[in-house]
Amino acid sequence: MKKILFATSEAVPFIKTGGLADVTGSLPKYLDKKEYDVRIILPKYMCMDSHFVEQLHFKCHFYVNLNWRKQYTGIFETKQDGITYYFIDNEFYFAGDKPYNQLHEDVEKFAYFSKAVLAALPYLDFCPDIIHCHDWQTGLIPVLLRTVYGAENYYAGMKTIFSIHNLKFQGRWNLNSVMDVTGLPAQIFTADKLESYGEANLLKGGLVYANAITTVSKSYAQEIMTEQGGEGLHGLLSARHNDLYGITNGLDYEVFNPETDASLIQNFKATNVKNGKSANKLALQREFAFPQEQGTFLLGMVSRMTDQKGFDLVAYIMEELLNTAKIQVIVLGTGEDRYQDMFRYFENKYPNQLKAYIGYSEELAHRIYASCDAFLMPSLFEPCGLSQLMSMRYGTLPIVRETGGLKDTVLPYNEYEKTGTGFSFANYNAHEMLNTIRYAMHIYYDKRKEWDAMVKRAMKEDFSWERSAKEYEKLYDNLVL
Ligand code: ADP
Ligand code: GLC
Repeated sequence: MKKILFATSEAVPFIKTGGLADVTGSLPKYLDKKEYDVRIILPKYMCMDSHFVEQLHFKCHFYVNLNWRKQYTGIFETKQDGITYYFIDNEFYFAGDKPYNQLHEDVEKFAYFSKAVLAALPYLDFCPDIIHCHDWQTGLIPVLLRTVYGAENYYAGMKTIFSIHNLKFQGRWNLNSVMDVTGLPAQIFTADKLESYGEANLLKGGLVYANAITTVSKSYAQEIMTEQGGEGLHGLLSARHNDLYGITNGLDYEVFNPETDASLIQNFKATNVKNGKSANKLALQREFAFPQEQGTFLLGMVSRMTDQKGFDLVAYIMEELLNTAKIQVIVLGTGEDRYQDMFRYFENKYPNQLKAYIGYSEELAHRIYASCDAFLMPSLFEPCGLSQLMSMRYGTLPIVRETGGLKDTVLPYNEYEKTGTGFSFANYNAHEMLNTIRYAMHIYYDKRKEWDAMVKRAMKEDFSWERSAKEYEKLYDNLVL
């Protein structure tokens, strides 16, 4: 039995700000339980829902040395769907109303978390063969393992995998502060190790010291080795290309299942999708005080509102789109003020056509995936993307830009061969996006049979974890004989 420990800053159902939590909270369930004992360790944030906090059991406590500081560290434990979760408790670092705050605070917080994870291992009765680290917040784990802890017997032979979910976020802060916070020796803050463009870079540490690197789609794995997509680290990633694997994310098919999803007004499957989606669509139109028009093209978006997600393009063409098309648009998201304000403006100007719910709601997200005709995701870059997979699973056709995981998972409609599971455009250009939305609407309004057939094709695609879980298993097997 191979022992794997996922170290992550978020995991469903306990804490989620984006797709990272979906992945770390669902992948362990789909790895072969007879061969792999996979557990998860994450911070015990004070902003976690109280009903989750109540289910945690205190295990033990100890102290972690962070340079000249000595930090209390508690360990809590619980089981969820047969998977053991460990939580690192420290109320100084994990206070606040959200998991992430100012970058300089987060750099110290996750430097502490990384050290606490390693220091916690002897107290867990679980000595992992592999620590599977996710994103910059856990980048110091491979570094600490190979520099500080490596000499101790207990840690000897332990391997690390570093998974990149988003290369844009690297945990960069000034060298002296990071040296002070971590207490790591100056000789590892060099250009071939933790230093990057004059700063300390935690993600880079993970990339340099991990035994293997993965990212969440095949296309993104290629893109990050180019200057354009490499966020300043393409040289290092290219140098490590033999250890870099692109493994496309899957969905938790138990949670994202239109046949059983309790958030929906009416459950459905591919054979009764038309009726099922109609009922959900009318209910969503009612919920958002839109005219209840079964036949009007309903376009959805569920997203963090950042420039990654293509909101600049949306802002540029929204007026033109709403002015010229028979369309209703529903947006769910939070993020940058400029995008929230943009949607507020259009909501006031076109109350029968656009509604934005600025906030976070898991149930509403599911209702949007289930009720809309199409889902817009025009990302500037997209490591994998889960929202387009969720949409397809619920028979909502994605309109995406051909980048990263979007390119790998959405097959563009081909009207001659009658293939495709959605619509896509190549360039980060607002009018190219607008034309693609219009093209989708043309198929919806004028070639409805084609549209309906495509809905069924999209629902039949397999985005479960089955295949990708096997790729992770293979990687684990390669690292640990
Ligand atoms: P990213 O991780 O870059 O945000 P993904 O597509 O991989 O993008 O995953 C986003 C996840 O977050 C999906 O599960 C999506 O449904 C969810 N999500 C994003 N914004 C919201 C929101 N405002 N309310 C509810 N769920 C949201
Ligand atoms: C990141 C990426 C997203 C990916 C998710 C889970 O948040 O932006 O594309 O799906 O991580 O891997």
